[in-house]
Amino acid sequence: MPRNDIDCHGYALQCHTENKMSRNEHQSKLYQSFCEAEGNQHIASEYAIGKINGLVEKFRVERILEVGLGIGSISGVVLAVNRNKPYLDYTGTEANDFCLKALPENLKEDYGRLVIYSDLSEIPSDKKFGLIIIDGKDQNLQAIKGLISENGILAIEGDRMPQQDSLQELFPQHKYVHCISLKRNKEYSPFSTENWQGGLKIIFVYPTLKQNLWWLKEKYFTKIKYQYPGRYLGKGS
Ligand SMILES: C[S@@+](CC[C@H](N)C(=O)[O-])C[C@H]1O[C@@H](n2cnc3c(N)ncnc32)[C@H](O)[C@@H]1O
Repeated sequence: MPRNDIDCHGYALQCHTENKMSRNEHQSKLYQSFCEAEGNQHIASEYAIGKINGLVEKFRVERILEVGLGIGSISGVVLAVNRNKPYLDYTGTEANDFCLKALPENLKEDYGRLVIYSDLSEIPSDKKFGLIIIDGKDQNLQAIKGLISENGILAIEGDRMPQQDSLQELFPQHKYVHCISLKRNKEYSPFSTENWQGGLKIIFVYPTLKQNLWWLKEKYFTKIKYQYPGRYLGKGS
C-alpha cells in the first residue's frame, strides 16, 4: 500500500498497468471463444477488435453502429468488456440467417443489448453514432452520412477499398489513417499463423483537436511499422 505521494503515484501506475493487462487478457479470452465458434471464417482480427475497444475508451464513444454483425466477434467482445457502461448503445446490421441465429448463441447475456436491423436503410435517420464500424457490404452506404455524429469515427475492418473510397468522398474534411499490426495471427485464430493480423482503417469525419493528435501519432507509428516490417514494437503494437 502507498505511504507517501511518490508511493501513491507508483501504486496508481502499477494498478493502471495491471488493469490494462487484465483487460487485454479478458479481451483475448473472449476473442478465443469466437475463434472456436461455428462460422468463424469471417471474424475480425484480434488486433482490429483491440483497436476498436481502444477508440471506444479514448473517445468515450456511447453509440456504435456495425455494418455486418456476422457471428458477433466485434460486438460480442466490445459489449462484454464494456459491461460497466450500461449506457453503451450497440446497433448493427445483418441479414444472413446463419449469422442471425449465431448471434444470440455467441453473445449470450449481452445479446439483449444489441439492436439489429437488416440494412442501413432501416435505421431511423435521427439516430447518430459516434463510431461506425464497416465490416460488411450495404447497398446504401451513403446513409452513413446521415447516421454519423458530427465528430464521429469510421472504422473499416479489412481491405474494403471500394467502400473506403466512397466514404472518403462523402467526408471531404476527413483525416485517414491505416493502423497496422506487426503481430502474426495467434495459433488459436482460424487464420494462418504465417500471416500478419492485418489492420484497421480509421476515418475521422471532421476531426477534433484530440482526434487530430491521435491521428498524427498513429500515422507516425504506421510509417515506422512499414519501414521496419518484421520488427517487434512491443505489446499492443
Ligand atoms: C466479414 S463478415 C462480418 C464479421 C463480423 N463483423 C464479426 O465480427 O463476426 C461480413 C458478412 O459476411 C457474412 N457472414 C459472416 N460470417 C458468415 C458465415 N459464417 N456464414 C455466412 N455468412 C457469413 C455476414 O452477412 C456478414 O455481415
